[in-house]
Amino acid sequence: MISATNQLLEELPLLEVRNLNKRYGKGCSSCETPDMLEGKDNRCPQCGSVWACIDVELDLYKGEILGIVGESGSGKSSLVKSLYFDDEITTGSATISTYQNGENNIFLESAQQKRYIRNHLMGMVYQNPWMGLKMNFSSGGNVAEKLIASGTYHVGKIRNRASELLEHVEIPLSRMDELPKNFSGGMQQRVQISKALANNPPILLLDEVTTGLDLSVQARVLDLIRKIQRELDVAMIVVSHDLGVIRMLADRTMVMRQGKVVEQGLTDQILEDPQHPYTQLLVHSLL
Ligand SMILES: Nc1ncnc2c1ncn2[C@@H]1O[C@H](COP(=O)(O)OP(=O)(O)OP(=O)(O)O)[C@@H](O)[C@H]1O
Ligand SMILES: [Mg+2]
Ligand SMILES: [Zn+2]
Repeated sequence: MISATNQLLEELPLLEVRNLNKRYGKGCSSCETPDMLEGKDNRCPQCGSVWACIDVELDLYKGEILGIVGESGSGKSSLVKSLYFDDEITTGSATISTYQNGENNIFLESAQQKRYIRNHLMGMVYQNPWMGLKMNFSSGGNVAEKLIASGTYHVGKIRNRASELLEHVEIPLSRMDELPKNFSGGMQQRVQISKALANNPPILLLDEVTTGLDLSVQARVLDLIRKIQRELDVAMIVVSHDLGVIRMLADRTMVMRQGKVVEQGLTDQILEDPQHPYTQLLVHSLL
């Protein structure tokens, strides 16, 4: 794993995030910038606004899995939701090397360009399948929706691609026309994954994809994610509060606490020799 990572580090990152700051709430004179809350947690005692991401920087390389770990409220979901344009950032930049030669800050692009990026360059799998799926559309219809959004209108082509994708995540074709609301949690996550992969995006964002699933179902979804990474060479950001999941999947890991990245490095190194006291606490609670 280490030699593969070294090789990756010689290339340019696919995704580069710099100084990403995200505040929820209007802010006030006591919390205009995140450093004004220094020494406190990231919630403003005056107005209740929260700096959910503070100067977050990350590089994601082609085909690698980057883990993001941290306790509840540390800003993990805010980070991926910002990247997927679900939530508007406060300040910061992100570039994608295969989009406009990596020269444009994607957060400053037009709504139309952002839609293009969402539909062609990224896929998102939400912790809550109700966020990522239309439960009253068939599972095939959910995948089709994503294909149509990217400009595929030929019915036969859509049906073929949807069945191919569902097959890839081991949803039997006989169930393609069923509503995902009647599926088990593990199956719903697999439909979400197939939808997220519909347009072969180079970047996949996965937010707590196995949280709340039974252990055996969890193992199957984790295996699927590894298979996808091997076969499709997709770069992934895997968010989890569970270090066990991170250990299984991630080449490199970032540890977040109160909106900040407190430690990052090779996953093996972080687990064997955590430097930050907070990471030490996380790792020891896993043992
Ligand atoms: N829509 C929102 N409005 C206001 N505050 C929010 C919103 N979303 C998140 N927050 C706040 O931002 C901070 C970071 O939340 P976030 O959901 O990113 O954490 P997380 O690391 O994903 O936690 P969890 O492990 O529980 O999913 C928290 O203090 C949270 O209360
Ligand atoms: Mg979250
Ligand atoms: Zn404030």
